[in-house]
Amino acid sequence: MSTGQALSIADRIDRVKRALLGRSEPPPVAKDQGPQPPHAVAKEQSPEPLPAEYMHLWDGKRLTHDMTRSRIGTWVKVLTPYRSAVHSILEIGSWEGQSATFWLDFFPDCRLTCLDHFQGSPKEHHGTEFASRLPGVEERFDLNMRPYANRVEKIKSHSTPGLNALKMQKRKFDLIYVDGNHERDEVMLDSILSWQCLSVGGIIIWDDYDMGGEDPDKPRSAIDMFIALQRDEITVLHKSSEQVFARRLERRDT
Ligand SMILES: C[S@@+](CC[C@H](N)C(=O)[O-])C[C@H]1O[C@@H](n2cnc3c(N)ncnc32)[C@H](O)[C@@H]1O
Repeated sequence: MSTGQALSIADRIDRVKRALLGRSEPPPVAKDQGPQPPHAVAKEQSPEPLPAEYMHLWDGKRLTHDMTRSRIGTWVKVLTPYRSAVHSILEIGSWEGQSATFWLDFFPDCRLTCLDHFQGSPKEHHGTEFASRLPGVEERFDLNMRPYANRVEKIKSHSTPGLNALKMQKRKFDLIYVDGNHERDEVMLDSILSWQCLSVGGIIIWDDYDMGGEDPDKPRSAIDMFIALQRDEITVLHKSSEQVFARRLERRDT
């Protein structure tokens, strides 16, 4: 592995500052650091359509709200090359198991760990639209996952202690889907802790990248900052207003 050019602490802090301030110019790139993440966000004008074979994926499932359908086309497009390489998946935020159903179907050999406190996110699920759907969400998740019982592990916990426990157990995952709380600091915590559980070569997906637009308390600033921090061991595979896919690389500058 190439040693590349080591970055000083000052350079790293500068990069984080730039990411926080939303300046668009990319930081200087050391010569042999390999592929670099794109800096522009490709606005997803029209998300990939739902492929016909997934039209009936959720037939018979107990779902009160469609949280996932609009994501599937992009998941299929970006993840198809990795289909045979993904055997272990961690999902932060499962709700009723709609996205979980997709992972289990799309990666037929995978084992899936679902981490959720099943209390909803205070700013998203406690208002008028979702409050009536919140009771019974865990029971619906359990029912929907019953056909896959031997492949699914449910961890009922707030994500911070849950991820910390997985880290202490030295658990590693080939794919991690971050779709829990969408407040900036929670997204940052989930990202930092998830990263420690992501295999080298593994893929992390953040949902709702542009939720809240430029609002600094929303996911975008945390995701951008995290990617800037991990610059020496991350490559962005896909970035749109809805979601960001990135792959963990061997560290290049240590
Ligand atoms: C947007 S929903 C997940 C939707 C699901 N991924 C899907 O597409 O079918 C977010 C979920 O994250 C959970 N959640 C929010 N904050 C959390 C936290 N800090 N720790 C654990 N779970 C959390 C909520 O209970 C909710 O079920």
